[in-house]
Amino acid sequence: MKAAVLNSAPGKLDIEDVDLDSPGPREVLIETKAAGLCHSDLHFMEALYPYPLPAVLGHESAGIVREVGRDVTYVKPGDHVITCLSAFCGHCEQCLSGHMSRCERKNKDLVRQAGEPSRLTRGGEAINHFLHLSSFAEQMLVHEHTIVKIPEEMPMDKASLIGCGVTTGLGAVFRTAKVEPGSDVVVIGCGGIGLSAIQGARIAGANKIIAVDVVDSKLELATALGATHTINGKEDPVAQVRELTQGLGVHNSFEAIGLKATAEQAFRMLRSGGQATVIGLIPIGINIEVHGVDLIDEKKLTGSNMGSNQFRTDMPRFVDMYLTGRLKLDEMVSKHISLDEINEGFDEMKTGAIARNVITF
Ligand SMILES: NC(=O)c1ccc[n+]([C@@H]2O[C@H](COP(=O)([O-])OP(=O)(O)OC[C@H]3O[C@@H](n4cnc5c(N)ncnc54)[C@H](O)[C@@H]3O)[C@@H](O)[C@H]2O)c1
Ligand SMILES: [Zn+2]
Ligand SMILES: [Zn+2]
Repeated sequence: MKAAVLNSAPGKLDIEDVDLDSPGPREVLIETKAAGLCHSDLHFMEALYPYPLPAVLGHESAGIVREVGRDVTYVKPGDHVITCLSAFCGHCEQCLSGHMSRCERKNKDLVRQAGEPSRLTRGGEAINHFLHLSSFAEQMLVHEHTIVKIPEEMPMDKASLIGCGVTTGLGAVFRTAKVEPGSDVVVIGCGGIGLSAIQGARIAGANKIIAVDVVDSKLELATALGATHTINGKEDPVAQVRELTQGLGVHNSFEAIGLKATAEQAFRMLRSGGQATVIGLIPIGINIEVHGVDLIDEKKLTGSNMGSNQFRTDMPRFVDMYLTGRLKLDEMVSKHISLDEINEGFDEMKTGAIARNVITF
């Protein structure tokens, strides 16, 4: 099958022929139907985050089950599924207390063990599986605890977005920050993740929803998806947020880019007792600084991993919200591309001008 391989980083993706093993007892073979390009893949391509290479990238996808291992009962061939990198073991303390996205055993219990054949190979040589999924490929071989069933009427391109960006943005609002109705919210960065956080804030009943980006067309899209105010981040966004909130700041801010400067802005936009949630992946080695005196005002700074999801519960809800018109996903697909166009797709992401490019197979 064809797959996009990262052979060295920093580097581009090479479209190559790779092979998948047959499903182990709890594994599922999926025909990939759609895969979104998320900025996290780009961080790995730019070597801002390390990963053992070569690897088939991609982690935001939907497809159809084609084969299941002998112990799999959750799905059968023909079922439509969304994948999620938040693989859960189901028996560690995090999983048992409802925090499956923080599973402490996923890289031990849900991967192939030493001595077992690799899930992915290229001419007999082992290739690394990426974040339990490796979605930039015509097929995926995954553990059954990385998939959730969805109804067949859900279009696959929109479903794929729920696999990372939508769940991360909505989950950061609903589960990590637990935004209360009537709160004032800022979202910095209006890509696939930030636009999802804006929609989450709208659905949660936030009062002011202030979108910050440096690309004007993104601010227009943010308004269409629920932002009540927009700010161009090039012009002192902290001061502008204070001006929009009678000098007080917001109850909740979300950083959806992955920069030191904007993470610090998110904290400085808070009112007393507020919480800044950094969703963006801050490059390894970078420290975030806050003014110590702000802590006496009970301001909080936290991260969010994949929207603190319980994805087998959350994703079907998001599918329903789309099918009933409350979650807008058609607007978030900027372009459908082929696997061969993947590097151009990531080049476009770097301009900041697109919401999501989605590969359809
Ligand atoms: N925490 C998680 O679990 C998780 C999950 C998925 C993605 N992420 C991360 O979230 C971040 C966003 O991902 P994405 O796919 O939406 O990215 P994206 O590239 O599609 O969007 C980023 C947006 O930020 C804007 N931007 C850039 N610099 C800015 C600035 N200084 N001020 C204001 N806006 C600015 C861009 O114009 C663009 O609209 C990435 O760091 C990604 O790795 C985290
Ligand atoms: Zn992602
Ligand atoms: Zn676990």
